[in-house]
Amino acid sequence: MSLSSRHLLGLSGVPKEDLQLILDTARTFREVLERPIKKVPTLQGKTVVNLFYENSTRTRISFELAQKRLSADTVNFSTSTSSAKKGETFKDTVRNIEAMKVDMIVVRHQSAGVPQYLTKISKANIINAGDGLHEHPTQGLLDMYSIHERLGKLEGLKVCIVGDIAHSRVALSNIYGLKTMGAQVSVCGPSTMIPLGIESLGIKVYHKIDDAIKENDVLNVIRIQLERDAGRRIPSLREYHNYFGVTTERIEKFNKDIVILHPGPINRGVELSSEVADGPYQVILDQVTNGVAVRMAVLYLLGTMHS
Ligand code: CP
Repeated sequence: MSLSSRHLLGLSGVPKEDLQLILDTARTFREVLERPIKKVPTLQGKTVVNLFYENSTRTRISFELAQKRLSADTVNFSTSTSSAKKGETFKDTVRNIEAMKVDMIVVRHQSAGVPQYLTKISKANIINAGDGLHEHPTQGLLDMYSIHERLGKLEGLKVCIVGDIAHSRVALSNIYGLKTMGAQVSVCGPSTMIPLGIESLGIKVYHKIDDAIKENDVLNVIRIQLERDAGRRIPSLREYHNYFGVTTERIEKFNKDIVILHPGPINRGVELSSEVADGPYQVILDQVTNGVAVRMAVLYLLGTMHS
């Protein structure tokens, strides 16, 4: 079994068989992470560069750990300490890195489309670790893995993505991936944070958090992205919390077992109360653990493909 593409640029258009293969493979690697020696020789001799042009805690560390767990040689690039600061172009940077004989590039960039561009200028396998407002496919995959781990299925589940959908690459990857796997996907947020015409993707839109809690099995709560100007779309963070914040009181009003995801980093007291962020409904740190297994699966499946 192998994937139908040698790159992972997004979850849009990725066939169900590929998503299933990644999730099944991740399950095997999740078991490796429980062993005393959390390492397999699968990518011995392969070299991976983590090219991060934008800040990250979870994704960068998770990819690096996944590469080490697979015995790949791994190198980290960050703009703040690179010759990009001296004016070197992105293309020259990539061509110089490639001249050092790398097999795979994991890229995070503030501009949408950079991973796609890399496939044109590099021979390496490219993995998108988040590009602008476009996609964050490994986050979408680890979210699906975590939902399946808690509820035992994806098909037929009702999943609502709550928050700043307009600025969220996580939302788009979730929408594409979950729909392909047969879930019923919706979004919830103030109209200023819901892109016009999003219903054309086949999803329902809620503007009341109580309705979203009442009608869904899972809420994937997305961060209010203040660094991307989200603050201009709402009167205040307190107002946002009052109308859309997920609180224990709101959940318990409906007396149901809902699963709460959050990709992190959390704005505590804004999109989630601290009680929910640390409470029994959430699977937030499971998502982080599962992220290593999912990224191991993606690296393994791409790194062992025959060209
Ligand atoms: N979820 C996520 O992408 O987090 P980081 O920005 O810390 O990588």
